[in-house]
Amino acid sequence: MGGKNIGLIGLGVMGQSLALNLQRHGFGVAVFNRTPQKTKEFTSRHPEIMPTYSLEAFVRELDTPRRVLLMLTAGPAVDETIRALTPLLSRGDVVMDGGNSFFQDTERRAQNLEAQGLHFLGIGVSGGEEGALKGPCLMVGGPTEGYGQVSRILTKIAAQADGPCCEYLGPRGAGHYVKMVHNAIEYAIIQIIAEAYDFLTRAGELEISKVREIFDEWNHGELGSFLFEIAVEVLGKMDEEKRVPLVTLVSDRAGQKGTGRWASQNAMDLGVPVPTIDAAVAARNLSAMKDERLNAAKVLGTSRPPTSRFHAGSVESFRAAVEASVIVSYAQGFHLMSRASEHYGYSIPLGKVARIWKGGCIIRAKMLDPITHALETEEPRNLIVSTEFAGRLIPLDPKWREAVKQAKAAGIPIPAINASLDYCDAYRSERLPANIIQALRDRFGAHGYERIDKAGNFHTNWSN
Ligand code: 6PG
Repeated sequence: MGGKNIGLIGLGVMGQSLALNLQRHGFGVAVFNRTPQKTKEFTSRHPEIMPTYSLEAFVRELDTPRRVLLMLTAGPAVDETIRALTPLLSRGDVVMDGGNSFFQDTERRAQNLEAQGLHFLGIGVSGGEEGALKGPCLMVGGPTEGYGQVSRILTKIAAQADGPCCEYLGPRGAGHYVKMVHNAIEYAIIQIIAEAYDFLTRAGELEISKVREIFDEWNHGELGSFLFEIAVEVLGKMDEEKRVPLVTLVSDRAGQKGTGRWASQNAMDLGVPVPTIDAAVAARNLSAMKDERLNAAKVLGTSRPPTSRFHAGSVESFRAAVEASVIVSYAQGFHLMSRASEHYGYSIPLGKVARIWKGGCIIRAKMLDPITHALETEEPRNLIVSTEFAGRLIPLDPKWREAVKQAKAAGIPIPAINASLDYCDAYRSERLPANIIQALRDRFGAHGYERIDKAGNFHTNWSN
């Protein structure tokens, strides 16, 4: 038996698309799915792909060293499959997890499989169904030896943007860590887009078709990106029955599968401020509390009606605020990765991360060109102080503030744009009011404080 270059387990949307992508690039693919019906249906539509109906048969179809790609829902399904699969494998085989697994689960699995002589790669796969089919962005973590066994396949099926959008990013959970941060930036940018939509439609009272035109224009400038491109598409879609923009009929409760929240939680653990990401996660949580919002709207009254402050220049002010906040979202994500890289010993090549994000993934954007350049040439402690982005943020500043003022006056919540501005203002403050925080801590808890005029640790009896 044998003969297949790679085996794929899990025929959800992403699994099916990746199997087809692999097969179209000339690789022999065997597939297995827990429910045999799905395998039957899929392979009857694509007879070039080899169906298997037991893990034993699946493993028998694979060339050695065997390469197995798991495309399963993150969580227990991954552990269960690994448990059933690994006794059938041999030393040197490679198991890849292409789901959105939590990076610490990947760390644990990597350790267990390593002990069995198997290579375990945690691969962040981005691009949704279309990306998986036509060329995803692949963020790989794990043992280099394991990567060596699969790099030829992965780089071939990945999107291309100045080279393949597939890179080895570090040991153990590094790939899934980077994917988690990718998703967190995705949350932040989506939230910023939602805030712009809200401001333009409610404060500006613009028609959806007008907002669509504005987004299209923005997409042709510095904000050029996949997310703006699809925002234009989404705003242009009409509901055939009701003859209104479909987006206005979509429920305003946002879902989430956890990656954004994990990034916020981990950033707290590492002490890295990512307030734009936190705001985006919180905004989704708030959106989901529909009943409470309806009640609060009754009790407190809804936000203030649009004011006459909105004028022709407001659109440009908001564009500036969006551009600045998107820059800050990437900056926070890279800041977090840089700290995590040291903390977990990942040595993540940040410039390479920015480069592979240029194609295939959800946050691909024109801005990633200068981000890659800044990371590779300057290695800034924070992107916002790199020559390129400081040079962009400074002129955006007055309009950014104006946009925040206008949104506040109109009672439009802009948590991500606001958090981004506060982040910048705090990050560039020579002096923060943490002196009084320290004084208060010392007053109620004798925690001690340092002084700016002499060295040492001090405690004062403040009440006297
Ligand atoms: C991608 C996406 C993908 C998925 C997110 C959505 O890179 O292709 O990020 O992984 O769309 O998991 O996450 P939420 O359901 O949490 O919004």
